[in-house]
Amino acid sequence: MSDVPDQVGVIGGGRMGAGIAQAFLLAGARVEVVEAGGDAADAARGRIADGLEESARRGKLTGDVGDAFARLALVDSAAELSAGTGLVVEAVPERADLKVTVLTAAESALGPDAVLATNTSSLSVTELAAALQRPARFLGMHFFNPVPASKLVEVVVAPETAPDVVEATRGWVRALGKTDVVVKDSPGFASSRLGVLLGLEAIRMLEEGVADAEAIDAAMELGYRHPMGPLRSTDLVGLDVRLAIAEYLAGTLGERFTPPQLLRDKVAAGELGRKTGRGFHDYP
Ligand SMILES: NC(=O)c1ccc[n+]([C@@H]2O[C@H](COP(=O)([O-])OP(=O)(O)OC[C@H]3O[C@@H](n4cnc5c(N)ncnc54)[C@H](O)[C@@H]3O)[C@@H](O)[C@H]2O)c1
Repeated sequence: MSDVPDQVGVIGGGRMGAGIAQAFLLAGARVEVVEAGGDAADAARGRIADGLEESARRGKLTGDVGDAFARLALVDSAAELSAGTGLVVEAVPERADLKVTVLTAAESALGPDAVLATNTSSLSVTELAAALQRPARFLGMHFFNPVPASKLVEVVVAPETAPDVVEATRGWVRALGKTDVVVKDSPGFASSRLGVLLGLEAIRMLEEGVADAEAIDAAMELGYRHPMGPLRSTDLVGLDVRLAIAEYLAGTLGERFTPPQLLRDKVAAGELGRKTGRGFHDYP
């Protein structure tokens, strides 16, 4: 099994970035997290410290928390990343202009062999690659939330990504204790494309009165051994988030992703799922 690079950069230390940084710290790397200074940096440091403590409680940390935390550094901008960094994972908010800004700054700071990855969940990796000097060294590493508990990373390959970059990235994913699936860059990759379609069909069934929400979820949980039914899963992700992805996929892949009216109505009513206490199920 290959090791992770000695020096890793993570741009953005939010929900996903903190989890990604934690995963590489646990695998023995030195990690620099880029956050825009002050409170944001303190918050990112706190999230990573909490995550490491949690890993230690669960017995996932071989050394001690202090050692792992000592390998973490916060920097103010992507231009300050160490020149010897082997891999940078970008996890800033889902805006193409912001991602291009931080990725191009990182590319200028790093050596020619460094690999740059984006954790985008919906943007085109190919379009982001077009802004870079070395698109062959760039690809998608799509981690799942929460990162420490998720076993999957989609490795998203754009037309210009070099084969050795794909192979190195697959090795790093395995060194993190996770499983890689290689996917050609296309809207929704593999996971969102299938997961969203199942969720939309479940909502259409609810609209048509085929069965109630409990029954639809039970059908998939017990009949097909899905750990969570499609409506409960939509509640977890957030109905607003699902609606935005469905609209994007309807525009790129076709009408089969057109959001059902019931989904639009629930979002308009503020029933966004677990985070608001009500979606297709209630969360008192
Ligand atoms: N949340 C999920 O379930 C999930 C799952 C898979 C992928 N993603 C993707 O991961 C990315 C990040 O999502 P998130 O949920 O962690 O968002 P988040 O808002 O929790 O975190 C984003 C972080 O980026 C920081 N940031 C903003 N501008 C920056 C800049 N110029 N330089 C450095 N840091 C900056 C913010 O301070 C924040 O801490 C998005 O592309 C999202 O689509 C999210």
